[in-house]
Amino acid sequence: MSTDPSAQSKSIRESPAWQALLDHAETLKATTLNELFVEDPDRGSRFTANSGSIYFDYSKDHLTEKTLDLLLELADTANLKPAIESLFNGESVNNTENRPALHTSLRGSGNWEGDVSQGHVAQVAKQNALQTLSKMFAFAEQVRQGELKGASGRPFRSIVNLGIGGSDLGLRLVVTAFPELHHPNIAIHFVASIDSHALSTVLEKCVADTTLFIVSSKSFTTLETLANADRARIWLRDAGIADGDLDKHFVATTGNKVAARDWGIPDEYIFPVQDGIGGRFSLWSATGLAIAITLGPEAFQSLLDGAKEMDIHFRNTSFHQNLPILHGLQSVWHANFRGYRSRAVLPYIHRLQCLPEYLQQLMMESLGKSTTKQGENTDVSTGQIIWGSEGTTGQHSFHQLLLQGTEIVSVDFIASRTAHCEATAHRHLISNCLAQSQALMRGKSVLQSYEELLAEGSSEDEANQLAIHRAVPGNRPSNTLLLDEFTPHCLGALLAFYEHSVYVQSVVWNINAFDQWGVELGKEMSGEIFSLLDNPDRKPQYYKQLD
Ligand code: F6P
Repeated sequence: MSTDPSAQSKSIRESPAWQALLDHAETLKATTLNELFVEDPDRGSRFTANSGSIYFDYSKDHLTEKTLDLLLELADTANLKPAIESLFNGESVNNTENRPALHTSLRGSGNWEGDVSQGHVAQVAKQNALQTLSKMFAFAEQVRQGELKGASGRPFRSIVNLGIGGSDLGLRLVVTAFPELHHPNIAIHFVASIDSHALSTVLEKCVADTTLFIVSSKSFTTLETLANADRARIWLRDAGIADGDLDKHFVATTGNKVAARDWGIPDEYIFPVQDGIGGRFSLWSATGLAIAITLGPEAFQSLLDGAKEMDIHFRNTSFHQNLPILHGLQSVWHANFRGYRSRAVLPYIHRLQCLPEYLQQLMMESLGKSTTKQGENTDVSTGQIIWGSEGTTGQHSFHQLLLQGTEIVSVDFIASRTAHCEATAHRHLISNCLAQSQALMRGKSVLQSYEELLAEGSSEDEANQLAIHRAVPGNRPSNTLLLDEFTPHCLGALLAFYEHSVYVQSVVWNINAFDQWGVELGKEMSGEIFSLLDNPDRKPQYYKQLD
C-alpha cells in the first residue's frame, strides 16, 4: 500500500471546519428554502455556475454563502487542491493498489509537461492512450467501411459487446444516447448477464458470419464475460464457422493481454487498457471500442473533448465556480450535515435512460467504503445511495416519495437547454423538469389544499378531511443541470463532472475512490457454492437440479 501525499492523517470530523459546519447546520435547520429565497431574491442566479457545456443551478438547496465558505474551508482542510494535482499528475491516488488513476490522461488532460524519456507517469499514460486511440479508430473505420470481414468474406453487420460493470455500462449509455449517429448497416448489442437468455436473445438477431464479438474485460477473468465469450464461440461453431476462422470474429479490450491471447484472440485484435484505468472510469479507453465503431471516431473524439473541457474546468476554475467541487461538497453537506442518504438522478432526456445505472456504479463502487486511506474505520458516513430513472416516467411512480415521503432525497434534474427532440416535446420536458423542482421546494400548504377543494365543489367537511392528504410539505432540495445541447461533447462533460464530484467526495472522506475490494468476496463465495451445486452428493437440499 503506497502513501498518498494528499491523504489526511487526522479524522476530518475532528477538524474545526467540520465542527463549524455542524454548528452552522443546526442554525440553518429551521430555515426553509422559501425563506432563503425571500431573504435573498438573487440566489436563483447567484447559486449557479457554468462550465461551458453545463449550467449548474444549486440554488434550491439549504445553503448560504456561509455554508459555502465553510464547505470550502473543509475542502482546504482535506487538502483538496493538492489532491486534484495528485490525480492529474499521475500520483498513486489509488493507494491500496499502488497505482494512479489515469482516466484524465485518456482525454489528454494530465500533466504533460514532464519528460517522457524520464518515464513521467502521466506523460507515458498519455502516449499509450494516444497510441491505443489511433489503433481503435483505424479498426473502427475498417469495420464501419466494411473492409474487415468475417469468416465468409462478408462485412460485419452486428457487433456484440460482451462485458459487465465498467466494461458495459458506460458504453451502453453513450451508444443508447445517440441512435441517429449509429452506422446505418451495423447493429450494436450489449450482453452483460451470465443468464444465458441475455446472450441468446441477442444472438437471435444476429447472423453468425457477420457478427463480431468484443470481449470487453479489463481483467479478462470476469466470470460473466468469459462465460458469454465461450458461449458465443460455441454458437459460431454450431453455425458452421471453422475453428481456423473463429479468431476473425473476436476482439478484446483488456489489460490482460496474456489471458486474452490464451483464450484465442490474436495480438493485433487486442486493444490494451492501461493498468491505471479503473473499470468504471474506462469508457474513454479501449473499453469504448463499441462506441467508436457504432458512433464513429469523430463522435468518440467529441466525447473525449467534452470530458477534457470538464477536466480543465475542474483543475483551473476557482472553487466557488467549480461545478464538480460544488457538487461534491454539496453531496458531503447532504450526507453528513443534512442526513440525506440517497440521491436521485433524473434525466429529462429519454436517451439518457441508462445514466442512473451508470452513475450507480461510478458513485457507489467508488464511494461505498468504510475504511480510510490509512486503514482506519471511517467515523463519518460516506457514499449516498444513487438511484433514479428517466424524468417524466419517474413522475408517475416514485416521485410520490420524493414529494410526500418521510425520507428527504437529494435530486439532480438533468435536461438539455437546446431542443434535442421535437420542439413541443422539449418544451413539455423542460416545463415538467422545472415544475418538479418547484413542487419539491414550494410544496402546497394544507390551507391551499383546503381552498382548492372548496373551489372544486367539496363540502367543508370533505375539504377538512382531505386537505392534509393533498398537502405537499415542500422545502425539499434539488439541483438542475442544464446541458448546453445534447451532444457527445456535452455528455462527455457531464460524465467527467460526475467523475470529479466523486473524487472530491472521496478526498473529503479520506477514502480511496479507485478500488473495489468489497465486490471480490461475493465472487469467491459464489465459486465455492457453484462447486457444491455441481456435486450431486453435496448439493444443498433446496437446490433443484434441472439438467
Ligand atoms: O466486480 C466488479 C468489477 O471488477 C468492476 O469494477 C468492473 O467494472 C467489472 O467488475 C468488470 O470487470 P472487468 O472489466 O475486469 O471484466
